[in-house]
Amino acid sequence: MVIRSKKARQSRELPLLSYNLKKLSEEAQNCRNCDLWQNATQTVFGEGSPNACIMLIGEVPGDQEDLQGHPFVGPAGKFLRAKLEEVGIEMKRVYLTNAVKHFKWERRGKRRIHKKPSVGEITACKPWLNAEITALKPKIIVCLGATAAQTLLGRSFRVTQHRGEFLESTIAPYVMATVHPSAILRAPDEDSRHEQERQFLADLKKIAAIRV
Ligand code: URA
Repeated sequence: MVIRSKKARQSRELPLLSYNLKKLSEEAQNCRNCDLWQNATQTVFGEGSPNACIMLIGEVPGDQEDLQGHPFVGPAGKFLRAKLEEVGIEMKRVYLTNAVKHFKWERRGKRRIHKKPSVGEITACKPWLNAEITALKPKIIVCLGATAAQTLLGRSFRVTQHRGEFLESTIAPYVMATVHPSAILRAPDEDSRHEQERQFLADLKKIAAIRV
């Protein structure tokens, strides 16, 4: 059960007093803290073992995630899962989530195209991410892309400058930011895709090498 004070409701904050991932996930299904729920099928909360030591944070669920109700099950998610396997990170060690928990999109023909969440939407969703971190206490946090990185590390953080570095942080013993897998899938040509993939694998290998 999540308890919100009247003051918190009025200020649209969510002081989440229940730090149990299953309960948080249930409670998040009714989240109305911003307007994104109106055009989304459902809340896509984080998933993984409650004992996972690695938390990977993306931006926002995509079309498939919205329809299926699970994070990272579309093309970018399949790519990410394949790369985790390639470097020897088992899924039982991983918790997958997003900075924003409702799909944001616009219609283009028959397709629903992903839209980047606004700062207001990211801020509205942040209590859920904070609660997930508090509940899970991951040893390692990996921010996938600028939205996740800036949500946790501040808006001046640049993935382009610090990708693959272990960062000083009080949030977890090991914190790293790298590119979002969908950026690799969108690479303009084969050569740059290969290069981006190589760097992404190098970042994941650093995570795989940590013994916690
Ligand atoms: N991209 C994300 O950032 N998260 C998902 O769950 C899927 C795609």
